[in-house]
Amino acid sequence: MQSTPASNLPGAETRRDTEKTAIFVKDAAPKITKYSLADSADESHSTMDYHVEIISKNDKLRVLKFLRRFFFRDEPLNQSVQLIPEGEDSTCAELEDYCSNASFDNNFSLMAVSASGAIVGVILNGKMDPPSSEEPEYIRTCANAKFKKILRLLHHVDRRVNAGGQFRDQNIMEIRIISVDTNWRGQGIAKALIEKTVEIAKEQGFHYARADCSSMFSGKLCARLGFNAVYKLDYSDYVDESGKAVFSPASPHTTMTTYVKKL
Ligand SMILES: CC(C)(COP(=O)(O)OP(=O)(O)OC[C@H]1O[C@@H](n2cnc3c(N)ncnc32)[C@H](O)[C@@H]1OP(=O)(O)O)[C@@H](O)C(=O)NCCC(=O)NCCS
Repeated sequence: MQSTPASNLPGAETRRDTEKTAIFVKDAAPKITKYSLADSADESHSTMDYHVEIISKNDKLRVLKFLRRFFFRDEPLNQSVQLIPEGEDSTCAELEDYCSNASFDNNFSLMAVSASGAIVGVILNGKMDPPSSEEPEYIRTCANAKFKKILRLLHHVDRRVNAGGQFRDQNIMEIRIISVDTNWRGQGIAKALIEKTVEIAKEQGFHYARADCSSMFSGKLCARLGFNAVYKLDYSDYVDESGKAVFSPASPHTTMTTYVKKL
């Protein structure tokens, strides 16, 4: 393993994995923040108005419906393993459970909603579990081979991020899922969702916000929002027993990078 100093976190550095490894995102009172793209003089932008609101338990089904349509298919790792085969009108029950676990009733997860009431972006957040060196039972027993690969990668990354011990006993707000409607991308919705997450995490006394970015776009955005890259894994270095890369996401996604922001 080779280390590349990069962060301004005390004692933190960007670790870059070059080892070939066979192994896979308190109650805050609900608040509504209005973001408008209609500040521009161009009236045609008024149809792109949206606001950000906290997801409640009652929103679960429509949020899952949104994620099935976008994230389940187009997140780089899901796309790489074809979690939901092209053209197939199905879902991944295990990813639905992953999304649901502790993300819909903690008042930390947010959605962007258009003026017509449609969900156009989602960020699912939660308090990060303490790191474990053992592979957790829910990964060992995951019945979906494709999703299991993704869970294993996430666990691998988590172990590497925590290897230095600098996050021990810290309260970390984890950004688990972020997804924007394809027709609404490039308008700053993901930026607004992350900024609001950071605001809530600060208010609630978290020490850090963290995102494991499988996408170049989310990574670039976190860097721009003052997050520091503390670990980076090239997909080409994460290989199976025969030396073949486990994931080959479409260009331009070449790394899984963990970003943290001290709050
Ligand atoms: C990643 C994602 C959430 C970004 O949402 P978004 O609302 O478009 O993001 P923003 O508008 O806030 O912009 C983020 C940055 O990425 C750029 N970007 C986003 N999508 C892009 C695309 N398809 N092509 C080129 N640049 C893109 C934006 O231009 C912006 O950078 P800039 O300000 O330097 O121009 C969205 O692309 C998505 O849902 N992707 C599929 C799911 C996924 O990969 N989730 C992240 C997993 S960690």
